[in-house]
Amino acid sequence: MELTKLDQIRAAEARLLLPTYDRNPILFVGGENVYLIDEKGDRYLDLLSGIGVNALGYSHPAILEAIAKQSRKLIHTSNLFYHEGQAELAQRLTERTGMDRAFFSNSGTEAWEGALKLARAHAGLLRSEGKQIGTKLLALDHSFHGRTFGSMSTTSKAKYREPFAPGVPGVEFVRFNDVADLRAKFSNEVCAILVEAIQGEGGIRPLSQEFFNEARALASSTGALLIVDEIQSGMGRTGKWCAYQHYGIQPDVTTLAKPLAGGIPMGAILCTEEVSRSFHAGMHGTTFGGGPLACAVACAVIDTIEKDHLRDHTTDVGNYFLAQLRVLALRHSVIIDVRGQGLMIGAELDSADLAKLTVAEMLKRHIVMNCTSDTVLRFLPPFILQRAHVDTTIQALDEIFTEHAATRATA
Ligand SMILES: Cc1ncc(COP(=O)(O)O)c(C=O)c1O
Repeated sequence: MELTKLDQIRAAEARLLLPTYDRNPILFVGGENVYLIDEKGDRYLDLLSGIGVNALGYSHPAILEAIAKQSRKLIHTSNLFYHEGQAELAQRLTERTGMDRAFFSNSGTEAWEGALKLARAHAGLLRSEGKQIGTKLLALDHSFHGRTFGSMSTTSKAKYREPFAPGVPGVEFVRFNDVADLRAKFSNEVCAILVEAIQGEGGIRPLSQEFFNEARALASSTGALLIVDEIQSGMGRTGKWCAYQHYGIQPDVTTLAKPLAGGIPMGAILCTEEVSRSFHAGMHGTTFGGGPLACAVACAVIDTIEKDHLRDHTTDVGNYFLAQLRVLALRHSVIIDVRGQGLMIGAELDSADLAKLTVAEMLKRHIVMNCTSDTVLRFLPPFILQRAHVDTTIQALDEIFTEHAATRATA
């Protein structure tokens, strides 16, 4: 029997790639609007958007045009010379986030590494000015910041860290939303408190207002930095440019990535003028980061989010999605919690097996989503998702949970 194209690719990858991924057996070859298209031409409703990346969906004309236009002009130069894009993008981002300065990287984890370096360098600067401040980093339980050494060391799950031990020293974890634990672990040994405003991989867990307020107040009391990772929650996904804006909190440093350049790899560190004093020429750098192509596309993404009022749209469709999930939870007790903001949504189930089964059953129905933190169904759809897509999703979940309840009853 002749092997399909997918079979051939699976066999080649099994032989040639490092075994880091357990892929679903689907070969995607295209995409349009909120749909992915496989090699047979079948369409899949995408509620994951490449893990929070494809905010404008697939084949969006603004992105295609920006790529075509910029690639004809200049794809790469280097950070040794000027090009037209970085200041343009930094202007847009600083205005929208309340920050003063930017540095551009190629990914989320690289942005986070840079933010950690800023924290240590800033503490060093303060010490040189006579302040007493140490080098310790306080991160949170259930956090996820990436896979490079600093990011991994500030990520709470042991399975991501232990095989590569020892990690970066001086990191301590605080119990999530536990103000007393934060107070107990904070001292002038700490140079930064590290949080996600809404934890993503950790199971769509929003910080409490009280915890966020306390983190801001403690950091300000010693000159330590409050660093907020908005890599998953930023760029309008939650209805604001950054999720911290829902809390009325202004961090010293924030990081963006995922949807920033519409699928072209890019991350950003944004910080205050005060923090920017910590870096001088040569202290940090990148060959590819902030290249002309990524900057041009990121500007187009921001302009489209603005022009098409997509932050209002993520709020509206997100509220509808959350409400429909809550109604579904009244019918199916396997849903034990529904959390989120805008189009960053989690539905926690009562078992990891059911969560896994649900993702697989949704895929059979041509709906792409995933499960995080074992039991949490995670929805990170493109910002252009419509209410009708939510209805399709809720109907599919209803069918799956009804079938599951029937199977449980007869078992
Ligand atoms: C909150 C957060 N920080 C950092 C990262 C790492 O980003 P990247 O995978 O682009 O390195 C992720 C990725 O999922 C994330 O969700």
